Amino acid sequence: MRVTASAPGKLMLMGDHAVVYGYPCLVTAVDLRYQATVEKHLGTQILLETPMMRKNERKFEISKDALLNRSDFPRAAAFVLAAVRSFYQRYPFEGGLKIRTDGPIISYGLGSSSAVTAATVAALTALHHFSVPNQTLFEIAFDAVLEVQGKGSGFDVASAVYGGTLFYEQGGEVIEPIAVGDLPVVIGFSGEKVSTTDLVEQVSQLKSRNPETVDGIFNMIGKLVRKARYSIESQDWQTLGDLLNLNQGMLDALGVSTLQLSKQIIAAREAGAYGAKLSGAGGGDCMFALAEPGIEHGVSEGIENAGGEIVRIRTGVSGVRIEPN
Ligand code: MEV
Repeated sequence: MRVTASAPGKLMLMGDHAVVYGYPCLVTAVDLRYQATVEKHLGTQILLETPMMRKNERKFEISKDALLNRSDFPRAAAFVLAAVRSFYQRYPFEGGLKIRTDGPIISYGLGSSSAVTAATVAALTALHHFSVPNQTLFEIAFDAVLEVQGKGSGFDVASAVYGGTLFYEQGGEVIEPIAVGDLPVVIGFSGEKVSTTDLVEQVSQLKSRNPETVDGIFNMIGKLVRKARYSIESQDWQTLGDLLNLNQGMLDALGVSTLQLSKQIIAAREAGAYGAKLSGAGGGDCMFALAEPGIEHGVSEGIENAGGEIVRIRTGVSGVRIEPN
């Protein structure tokens, strides 16, 4: 028996960084899907093939015992292996596994790791003939992501599991869907790539040098997020645009924007977007603008002229699911 599960990437809408400290955030699942295919095989080996390994004509193989006792895996394999381990610790299974992951080679920093982790956990669950609530899938996958990254709020894992657009808080104690479809956003990729863990560490150091100020900024971001939730629900794009711009100002204050991101954000606003901000840890990756369908083209052009690459994907898509084989 062979089972394939897929999960979406994510676009962080608001609450970046503050969410690591227990404040709320808003996230939407995006149509960049990642798949994990699992099947049993005799013996006790775990055999893994990722798109990057296939490109380099390599495979990864490890015994189940070694998997349980080691954690220094190559980056390409780390999230999948951590997902297997996290699953096995709750639901020990007999025999070995063959695992194959698939998905877009360029992920634009839009949540490929959390998506592949969630897809692996869901595929393993179905392979062993049981189903668990989304909250359990989330917990198993979040443990795996934390094991690899050391730090993280889990909002990306929640987005991969639940899909749609979510209000997320307190390490997953609050995960609430927001009733809205595809959002009118234009996404720009800055072409730069920085480690999320390093950026989270940078903000943590800023916070230890300036505790009251940074706490004040996080508090303000939390307030903006709570207001934005209602603007999304009522599709009040004008207000949401203001809140995005204010949130970007706070991220600038935290020092995580870059020249490239700032240029694209300002270009989008000048082209008539309601608002624009970076998405995620900052230091590179993506920004997005909220733009009415009529002016979307001009906003895209503005972002491109400022050096960005437009990423055309739908938002609010479905979460992890089992695919027909
Ligand atoms: C990274 O995409 C978003 C951060 O808030 C980290 C996290 O929430 O895990 C910077």
